[in-house]
Amino acid sequence: MSQSAILGRIPPDVVCLADYERHAQALLEPAIFAYVQGGAADEVTLRENAQAWSDWRLRPRVLQSMQGAHSRVEAPGLNLQHPIMLAPTAFQKLVHPDGELATALAAAAQSAGLVVSTQASTSLEAIAQAFLPDAGRGPLWFQLYLQPDRAHTQALVQRAEQAGYEALVLTVDAPVSGARDRERRAGFKLPPGVEAVNLKGMPSLHPAQSPGSAHLFEGLLKNDQTWDDVRWLCAHTRLPVWLKGVTHPDDAVLAQNLGVAGLVVSNHGGRVLDTVLPTAHVLAEIRQAVGPGFALVVDGGIRRGTDVLKALALGANAVMIGRPYLHALATAGALGVAHAIRLLRDEFDLALALTGCTSPAQVTSSALAAR
Ligand code: FNR
Repeated sequence: MSQSAILGRIPPDVVCLADYERHAQALLEPAIFAYVQGGAADEVTLRENAQAWSDWRLRPRVLQSMQGAHSRVEAPGLNLQHPIMLAPTAFQKLVHPDGELATALAAAAQSAGLVVSTQASTSLEAIAQAFLPDAGRGPLWFQLYLQPDRAHTQALVQRAEQAGYEALVLTVDAPVSGARDRERRAGFKLPPGVEAVNLKGMPSLHPAQSPGSAHLFEGLLKNDQTWDDVRWLCAHTRLPVWLKGVTHPDDAVLAQNLGVAGLVVSNHGGRVLDTVLPTAHVLAEIRQAVGPGFALVVDGGIRRGTDVLKALALGANAVMIGRPYLHALATAGALGVAHAIRLLRDEFDLALALTGCTSPAQVTSSALAAR
């Protein structure tokens, strides 16, 4: 096999993340594309996530010196070469046989922080081994879904600690799966050979459910999750704990008071509860509620360097992307993911320079105007 076949080839017409989306749609089986791309129900939140960033308008300052400009993020508990991280996404072998290993190599090469899903299709240890040796790498975090049995949760936490993960990201917005109509219409099923390998031997967290199903509340009761679980987790790990999936300022303050390291302001990319507000509309209120010295990352619909800049202007310290790097992985494997991160980073650097900001910390709400 030639090297380009192993690495994947970047199609010459890819110049931005949307181009990878087009290629992924052409390459992937329709049911798999529906799984990656789809959101809950009518996909209102999915659409509005992206729209809400693009609806903000920029107000650049001109003639600012760029001496010493950089894209580093230095926030409490968050040191990054640039503010773009990869969100946890399940079952990456669905879109490319190299799956999470390709993503890990690409993220490390591009100094992007990586969050590995509980539902990864590759062992969490193998992903860590691919990522950690790179001297220029960003942080490596493990995304946790609380398992119905605490012993199973604890076992996952211990494995993540031993493998070298540097924080836990507890996802709290999906105690049951959303009704993803597009995915169900397409008849999506996990193909043989793609599974949540790190959960082998544990009971399924999300048994098949649909709205109105008599099993919905049974499932919820079996896996009842409350703030006590956050307290329990913080007491049972030496790693910093982040919460992912917070969109209400009151929840943000509760989490902050429990001593979590930071929050990922997220609506799960519109995949769980439809018509939740887009994250671009809740971020500023959450920043105001938690104050300036607390780490916030945001995701959902980030597709352009200007979206990253707007997220910082609204109070985030960094952003995560989900679907865009899966599109790139499907199109060109590790090379595609590395290229996608690079494209977004270059766009962000350009947006910094053209708004007259010398670093992410310099970006403030004065760079924004409502349309
Ligand atoms: C996700 N997301 C997700 N989140 C999580 O905490 N654990 C998970 O296992 C997954 N799995 C997953 C699979 C797929 C296919 C997608 C698209 C998303 C949500 C993800 O972390 C993130 O919040 C969103 O993807 C961000 O929105 P964008 O960038 O996809 O618009």
